[in-house]
Amino acid sequence: MKKIRIGIAGLGRLGRSHALNLAFKIPNAKLVAACSVVPAELDFAKNELEVEELYDDFAKMCASPNLDAVAIVTPSVYHPEQVECALKAGKHIFCEKPLAVTVDDCKKIEKMAEAYPDLVFALGFMRRFDPSYAYAKKKIEEGAIGKPYMVKATGVDPDADAESLLDSGYVPKSGGIFIDMASHDIDLMRWFLEDDPDSVYSVGTTVKHSRFTEQGDFETAAAIFTFKNGGIGQLHVGRASVHGYHIETEIIGTEGSIRVSPVPAKNLALLYDKTGAVQECVRNFPERFNESYAIELEAFCNAVLEGKKPLVNVYDGTKATQIGYACKESLDSGKLVKIEY
Ligand SMILES: NC(=O)c1ccc[n+]([C@@H]2O[C@H](COP(=O)([O-])OP(=O)(O)OC[C@H]3O[C@@H](n4cnc5c(N)ncnc54)[C@H](O)[C@@H]3O)[C@@H](O)[C@H]2O)c1
Repeated sequence: MKKIRIGIAGLGRLGRSHALNLAFKIPNAKLVAACSVVPAELDFAKNELEVEELYDDFAKMCASPNLDAVAIVTPSVYHPEQVECALKAGKHIFCEKPLAVTVDDCKKIEKMAEAYPDLVFALGFMRRFDPSYAYAKKKIEEGAIGKPYMVKATGVDPDADAESLLDSGYVPKSGGIFIDMASHDIDLMRWFLEDDPDSVYSVGTTVKHSRFTEQGDFETAAAIFTFKNGGIGQLHVGRASVHGYHIETEIIGTEGSIRVSPVPAKNLALLYDKTGAVQECVRNFPERFNESYAIELEAFCNAVLEGKKPLVNVYDGTKATQIGYACKESLDSGKLVKIEY
């Protein structure tokens, strides 16, 4: 089987999962290089993944003649310069979300990607590859719920990880809760409603972990969107879910509705004890979405091998950041914001 030779940049919270998938689970990929600024992560790549080429500098990895593609899983603020570097080196790109943390940078990346039409550029909105979300999309396309007109999206990180997230320095480089976390839900709303929002009203609060305020962000945020085609979006994102990692989406149509993981169950087991019937919840994003991460990277390799367009492209990345900024603007101003594209 022809394999795409990939170098990964970033082996942190998510990069580790992607690297393990690329090394052991994706048949059409070969992980040949890894780049990180953390020496222990390079040791992990060498010792656990048997990666041949190790780099502490992204440009040097891109210069390797042994790579067809790179996976960019570094802090979001570095995505623009690393995308530019990889395109100039002639590498296909899988880039994690958000595309960039400013709209200007997203537009610059669009132009760069357009200048290299033969290189595949895929963005990491992995929920579109998740078997349950893909099933919901297929049912909607088959007419199972009539015309979808509303999406209610919840995405809350585990409270157990909040303090370590704050310690890690991730938050100030993330773009903020709307650009970072809500980008997935915004992308799902656009995908399910097949349209873009034209207005948003947002609010935010920090109740439990005051350090989110100190780091210029919010612990919890909510927003209501109107879409150009009459659709409505309702968003709730947060970073303090006590029962686990809660990702839930409801799509409502004229003939019915679909809910994806209303209970974010760990598995099908129910524990019956003195308190009642207990369903343990999924703990974090690598546990909930590992299968989706593998499927999206396999699809990326197939797009490269077959010269196909990726399901999630650079323009989807720009839209998510643009809409995220409108959310932020509404929150800052306390006013409803019209979204211009
Ligand atoms: N799709 C998802 O579900 C999802 C989940 C989490 C994170 N992400 C995204 O993945 C990216 C990484 O997030 P994370 O949580 O893994 O971050 P992290 O802070 O845990 O890890 C960042 C990694 O990047 C490396 N790094 C930092 N600067 C670098 C540089 N200049 N060159 C090369 N490597 C460098 C670090 O060594 C580390 O390995 C972000 O863009 C984030 O938005 C996506």
